[in-house]
Amino acid sequence: MRDLSPRPGDLEAIETASRDEIAALQLTRLRATLHHAYANVPHTRAAFDAAGVHPDDLATLADLAKFPFTTKQDLRANYPFGMFAVPRDQVRRIHASSGTTGQPTVVGYTENDLRNWGQVVARSLRAAGLRRGDLLHNAYGYGLFTGGLGIHLGADTLGLSTVPISGGMTPRQVRLIEDFKPDGITVTPSYALSILDEFKAQGLDPRACSLKVGIFGAEPWTNAMRREIEDAFDMHAVDIYGLSEVMGPGVANECVETKDGLHIWEDHFYPEIIDPVTGAVLPDGQMGELVFTSLTKEAFPVVRYRTRDLTRLLPGTARTMRRMEKITGRSDDMIILRGVNVFPTQIEEQLMQVADLAPHFQIELTRKGRMDEMRVLTEVAVGVFDPDRRAAAGKALESRVKQTVGISVKVEVRDSGAVERSQGKAVRLIDKRPKDA
Ligand code: DLL
Repeated sequence: MRDLSPRPGDLEAIETASRDEIAALQLTRLRATLHHAYANVPHTRAAFDAAGVHPDDLATLADLAKFPFTTKQDLRANYPFGMFAVPRDQVRRIHASSGTTGQPTVVGYTENDLRNWGQVVARSLRAAGLRRGDLLHNAYGYGLFTGGLGIHLGADTLGLSTVPISGGMTPRQVRLIEDFKPDGITVTPSYALSILDEFKAQGLDPRACSLKVGIFGAEPWTNAMRREIEDAFDMHAVDIYGLSEVMGPGVANECVETKDGLHIWEDHFYPEIIDPVTGAVLPDGQMGELVFTSLTKEAFPVVRYRTRDLTRLLPGTARTMRRMEKITGRSDDMIILRGVNVFPTQIEEQLMQVADLAPHFQIELTRKGRMDEMRVLTEVAVGVFDPDRRAAAGKALESRVKQTVGISVKVEVRDSGAVERSQGKAVRLIDKRPKDA
C-alpha cells in the first residue's frame, strides 16, 4: 500500500489547533447556535421553555447538559420543514433520509451550510489521503440520500476529478474502475464487497487495480472487514461517518496515517456521549450514545441530537480534534438474545476469521415457543467445493460466536451469491419474530 500521509502544509490550521483554541471556538459557536435555534425554531423555543432553560444559561461547554435533547420523533412531528430556522427561500438544498418506518426526516442547507459541508467533506477526503487532481469513483447513491451528493460537494471543494457513478450496475462499476483508473473510491463497505466479487467474476485481479484508498461509511463495519478489504484491493480503507440530521457524510473521518478511529470535525459539530437510559453525560472513554449539536448550521441547527449510534470519545492523535471509536452499532440494531446484547458487528468480526466463509451475512431472528433463535445466513467462500469443509466452516463460526459473544446460533452456509447483496446500506437483520409478543 502506498504512503498517503499528509505533507507539511497539507492541513488546515484548525486541524492542529490547541484544545484551548478549539474549546473557545466551540463556546462562541455553541452560544450562537442556541440563540439562533431558540429565536427561529418554534419547537426548540418550546422545548427550552419547558425545560426552564434559555440560551443565556450557557456559560461553559459543560452547561450544554442542561438543555433538552432533540430526537428523531421531534423531527418527524415537524415534518417537512418545521425545524428549519431560515425562510424556505434561503434553503438551497433539501435532503431526506428514507427511514424504514414512518415519515422521512427532511433536512435543509443554506448556501453557507453547503460551503461548510463541502469543507468538512474535503477535509475528510484529504484525511483519507486524496489530493487535488486525484480521480474519485463515487459509488454512494445520488439523490435524497446525503451520501452521493455530499461526497461530490467535498470532492469539488478539494479539487478532485469526480466520477458520479452512484450505486448499482456492478459490472459497470468494475469496467469504469478498470478504464478510468481512479485513485479513490467512496462506497458503503457492503457494496464494496459486491464490487470485489464482480472483479473476481470477470477474472480480474482487484489488487492490480489503480485504487489507493477506499473511504467507507454509512453503515457499521469492523476492523476485521478493513483488513479483508485492504488485502483484497491492496489499498487503504478508512472510515467516514455522518448522518443527514447533523449534515451528511463528513461529520468525522479517519486519518489514513493512523487508522485509529474517526476524528470528529469539532469546529462544526459538538459531540457528547450519554447514557442511553438516563440521558446523563458520560466522561470521554466511556461507551454510550453519541449526541451532536451543530455549531455552524443555519438552515437546520440541531441541539443535542440523539443519533442512537453507540461509541466512545477518545483523545486526538493525528489531529487535535477528538476521535470516536468505530461505531459498534445503532441502539435500534441491538439484538437481545436470551438476555445477551448482540450487535451485527460482533457476528461480522467472527465471520471474518473463518477463511472458508465469504464476508456476506444476514441475521435472521425467529421465535420457537418462548425462545428467540438466531440464524446467521452466510456463504461459502469462492472456490471451496468440498462439502465437509463447508460444514466445518459453519461449525467453526457457531463455536466462535459461542465463545466470544456467549450465545448459541445456527449458521447456514449457502452457495456463493445466495445471500442478498446491497447496493447501498446492507440489511443485516431479518426479524421474523411475532410483532407484539
Ligand atoms: O449514512 C451519511 C453518510 C453517507 C455517511 C456516506 C458516510 C458515508 P444517513 O442515511 O442519515 O446518513 O444515516 C446515518 O448511518 O446514524 C449511523 O447509524 C450510520 N452510519 C453512518 N456512517 C457510519 C459509519 C448517512 N462510518 C446513520 N459507521 C448513522 C457506522 C455509520 N455507522
